[in-house]
Order: sequence, then structure tokens, then C-alpha cells
Amino acid sequence: MIELQDIRKSFGEKEILKGVSTIMEPGKVNLIIGSSGSGKTVMMKCIVGLMGVDKGKVLYDNQDFTAMDDKEKKTIRQEIGMLFQGSALFDSMTVEQNVMFPLEMFGTGTLKEKKARVAECLERVQLKEAAKKFPAEISGGMKKRVGIARAIVLNPKYLFCDEPNSGLDPQTSLLIDKLITELTQEYNITTVINTHDMNTVMESGDHIVYMYQGQKQWEGSNKDIVFSKDQKLNDFIFASEFLREAKEMRQLEMFKDGKWRDQLKKEQEGGKK
Ligand SMILES: Nc1ncnc2c1ncn2[C@@H]1O[C@H](COP(=O)(O)OP(=O)(O)OP(=O)(O)O)[C@@H](O)[C@H]1O
Ligand SMILES: [Mg+2]
Repeated sequence: MIELQDIRKSFGEKEILKGVSTIMEPGKVNLIIGSSGSGKTVMMKCIVGLMGVDKGKVLYDNQDFTAMDDKEKKTIRQEIGMLFQGSALFDSMTVEQNVMFPLEMFGTGTLKEKKARVAECLERVQLKEAAKKFPAEISGGMKKRVGIARAIVLNPKYLFCDEPNSGLDPQTSLLIDKLITELTQEYNITTVINTHDMNTVMESGDHIVYMYQGQKQWEGSNKDIVFSKDQKLNDFIFASEFLREAKEMRQLEMFKDGKWRDQLKKEQEGGKK
């Protein structure tokens, strides 16, 4: 579990994060969404410690990460897997060597055990046949999968993905989302994803934090979104006429199923703005 308590971050006069609090639970895909410049990447960097916060706390399983010394932070960092935007693979290394890299840096065990772990992770992302290939020889979607294999090779408790679907077609994006969701559930990982992708929001959003001008504007699940009355969130998610119509149809469907009562009640009871 990751907890943010009133985190604040400014660059000079410019306040980017204006006091954000939320809880990200294990076994769930937690999404951070919001328009360009709303502070998603800054927030992710603050959570993993690539940037310091000005105020507030980041807790990893109730341990105050912000108050830790470098040695203690290193212990938490070794439990973090990260999928970088654009995959950030080493071009001069094969797929297999890329996935081996974190194990060589931080892993324990014999070379044989490490090789077995690499093979296991490549198998999990269905890339066994590509093990000896170089990044230049594989597609964008395959590169993302190598990035995922590399991010999970050390069995992370926390997984961070910055825009995992950028540059991918909708079908490949859905496969990547499915893979991340499965891994999250299988290993009970606390996963945090920054995304612009509305398919991801609707398919994988167990818990969504919508950022607007440095603040948490709305929070809920993909099911809650359909019934949300938050105008800013609606303008952001259902930006086109087509999506607005799709939303109404979905509401109608849920209405017919009787599922709307629970959702409406949840939305009215608050917890969310
Ligand atoms: N190192 C930095 N120094 C100064 N300003 C920064 C720095 N990093 C980010 N910012 C500013 O913080 C704001 C939020 O940026 P951020 O990258 O978090 O947005 P984002 O929500 O991730 O946008 P996008 O969807 O385009 O990736 C922007 O105005 C940006 O210029
Ligand atoms: Mg960003």
C-alpha cells in the first residue's frame, strides 16, 4: 500500500502539487489521469523519490519514505519496478540481457538461478523466442513487454508505469493493460500508472485519481465514472460527442440491470468530490 498525505511541490513560484492525499492499494491498478501539465509525472517522481516533496508524506506500507535516510530509501527502491516512457531499453544489449540487468545490479543467487528467473519473466510476457534479439529488431509493443519483464524481474511490491501505452495501437495497448492487470493481481503488487489512454481508464481503472491544476479533483473507479457528476472530470473523459453518447448508453444499460442504484448511492455518499 502507498499512501500520500497532503503532498506539495513547487518549482519557484509555480505550485504544481497543491496538497494531494490518496491511498493506493495492493492488487489494484491505480491510475493517475489528467490533462497535459496537470502534474502527473511530477507526482510519480515524488512518490518514487526521484524528486523531493516540499511538504507532506509518502508512506510505503506505513513507513514514512520522505523521512528515511538514503540507505533506508534504497531498501524501498529495490522493491520498486518501473516501466519508463518509451521503454528505455539498452540498445546494445539483447532482450535477455536487458531483463538480466536489474538482477546483476541488485539480485542475489547464482548465475543459473538468475538465468532461470529471466527465462521465467520472458515466458510470462510471451517473449521467449525474442530472448536473443536486440531492441532494434523488435516492435514497439514487444519493447514495452521487455520493459515490463525488466520491471518485474526483482519481484517488486510496487510497480510504476509512466504512459505505458504511448505510441501503441489500441489493440496492443489493451494487451499491455491486460498483462499489467494480471501481474498486479497475481503478485498482489501496488501498481501506479500515469495515463492519457481512455481505454485503460475504462478497462483497468480499479482506482482512478483525476488531477486538475495540481489538485485531486476526483477519485473513484471506472464504474463510478459513468455516474460521476463532476463536470471537469466529465469534460476530460467524455470529451467527444461519441463518448458522451456511449456514456449515456452505458448508464441506460446499468439502469436496466439495476446496477445503477449501488453506483448512484456510492457517488452520493461522497468520499469523492
Ligand atoms: N524539473 C522541473 N522544473 C520546473 N518545472 C517543472 C519540472 N518538471 C515539471 N515541471 C512543470 O510542472 C508541470 C507539470 O508537469 P508534469 O510533467 O507533471 O505534467 P503531466 O501531467 O505529466 O503532463 P503530460 O501529460 O504532458 O506528461 C508543468 O507545468 C511542467 O512545466
Ligand atoms: Mg507526464
